[in-house]
Amino acid sequence: MTIRAVVRGIGHYLPERVVPNSEFEDTLDTSHEWIVSRSGIHQRHFAAENETTSDLATHAANRALSAAGMVADDLDAIIVATSTADLTFPSAATMVQNGLGMMRGFAYDVQAVCAGFVFALATANAQIVSGQAKRVMVIGAETFSRIMDWEDRTTSVLFGDGAGALILEAQDGTGDKSDRGILSVDLNSDGRHRDILYVDGGVSTQTTGYLRMQGKEVFRHAVEKLAATAQTAMDRAKITADEVDWVVPHQANIRIIQGTAKKMGVPDERVVKTVQNHGNTSAASIPLALSVAVSEGKIQPGQVVVTEAIGGGLAWGAVVLRW
Ligand code: UT7
Repeated sequence: MTIRAVVRGIGHYLPERVVPNSEFEDTLDTSHEWIVSRSGIHQRHFAAENETTSDLATHAANRALSAAGMVADDLDAIIVATSTADLTFPSAATMVQNGLGMMRGFAYDVQAVCAGFVFALATANAQIVSGQAKRVMVIGAETFSRIMDWEDRTTSVLFGDGAGALILEAQDGTGDKSDRGILSVDLNSDGRHRDILYVDGGVSTQTTGYLRMQGKEVFRHAVEKLAATAQTAMDRAKITADEVDWVVPHQANIRIIQGTAKKMGVPDERVVKTVQNHGNTSAASIPLALSVAVSEGKIQPGQVVVTEAIGGGLAWGAVVLRW
């Protein structure tokens, strides 16, 4: 018998404030047309001044609990993927644990920037499969608006804030690809490329810092590495492109999303896209896209979903699951 980590519920939360591309035209030498044509982004959400990453995460977590028909104490663990935690410590995850009123289990953060949700899913899966936990809430939550250099038109128009959460539960499977739950994982990083996407500050340097990106360089790595990691994960799960119902990619750039799907051999109509509405929300982008797709009736139980993401590090990876 094989233990599988099966999705039991999902939810998301977006801050109220919607920021259209046109808002940047007043302060930067940019245009709605440039932003749409180079990235596919039309708008993004920004957190209110007093709204933190763990606030967004807690809202999304409550919605995932409702969708699953569970209460917080049904969970054994909470993992939050974020690069923008409220404080240096404690983790955003323990803040969510407190916010949910969860009196048991354990909670911690995972930091793999835009690939964070994929890394957190892999970590949750390992803990479920090894018997350490039965029910794990996996959250991606970010307030990237807090690390934008508003004078840098090459980055500040691309990112947004938000959170998505899903609950994984241990269920018995047969060990073959017809099982529901996570079927395979592939994780990678290459620190030689740490300087093409980074924040130029941190605790050790006594500054907060701003996001810095050599966009063209990141782009150059993205399609190739994303298609390769997705293929590796699909091979491990013995899933072919024809069997993939939905690709749910990290939402950084529509051209990367479409280029990767093409290389994977999955037609465009089976690719979930939310980048136009959310911008790049880093670790939150995949759970946001999954949750939106479920709420729109796109992703159905039993369907095969491939998620893939790349970000600072570089760190990248993919997860194949049957919903
Ligand atoms: O989430 C983590 C992973 N991140 C990514 O995957 C992001 C990867 N990179 C990208 O998505 C794209 O590289 C960008 C959207 C960031 C940029 O698109 P691009 O097609 O690579 O444009 P570029 O950087 O080559 O810039 C083209 C031109 C430049 O002008 P020159 O040098 O050709 O005169 C830029 O200065 O566009 C200029 N530019 C802008 N113009 C208007 C850069 N930003 C802007 C802007 N508005 N906001």
